[in-house]
Amino acid sequence: MRRKLIAGNWKMNCLKADGLALAKAVFDKTNGTLPFDVLICPPMSLLGQVAAMPHQIGVGAQDVAVAPKANGAFTGDVSAEMVKDLGASHTIVGHSERRAMHHETDEIVRTKAERAIGAGLIPVICVGETLAEREAGQAIAVVTKQIRGSVPASATAENCVIAYEPVWAIGTGKVPTTADVAEIHGAVRAELAKVLGSDIADQMRILYGGSVKPANAKELLSVSDVDGALIGGASLKIEDFWAIAETQF
Ligand code: PGA
Repeated sequence: MRRKLIAGNWKMNCLKADGLALAKAVFDKTNGTLPFDVLICPPMSLLGQVAAMPHQIGVGAQDVAVAPKANGAFTGDVSAEMVKDLGASHTIVGHSERRAMHHETDEIVRTKAERAIGAGLIPVICVGETLAEREAGQAIAVVTKQIRGSVPASATAENCVIAYEPVWAIGTGKVPTTADVAEIHGAVRAELAKVLGSDIADQMRILYGGSVKPANAKELLSVSDVDGALIGGASLKIEDFWAIAETQF
């Protein structure tokens, strides 16, 4: 049984007062037994303070350094070991905003995922096609290639999570049809089975991300092979984030 994971990606949002208040609101909602897992990924500026607050859910970074060492001459970078040291449990890697704006290749994403796993963090490895790729009928080919290139051989269902986020659905209010989501998630799981074996693939969680809102969450999260959501904009308001989570009670 794959337990659903409701994950918030705050991106580059929240100054201290707002971010700590939002974290506290999420932690207050999640201080009992829940039938699903919850993760929040604040910006690096707040990660240490958020992780130091009492909590019973996952707290993650949005990225880790690709550098081959835990410390050294890598100005501006924060290693997976440093993120772990702050008290985090997870980190996003390979988000499409980093692939596009920071030219991160599958190889870079895979190396970051390896570093995360090596440091004891669970990477949430993101994949997803652009609109041009979807319109060219290439969505499955693009996403399965990203899986082959971005998921390290050390990945297991316990130490790794996948997120399928069509680039054209992120922050746009557009979402794929449930049939399209089912098709891609099925293809991702089949590719994971080829790369890691079917036992691991069957248990590994594959999140959907891209314009998940309270109004569409129940439907998206009931699609076969969808094991949770990676939520951007709607994770910044406790009412919306929790309305999405509440669809899973
Ligand atoms: P969105 O972002 O929910 O605002 O579309 C999702 C993401 O980029 O992780």
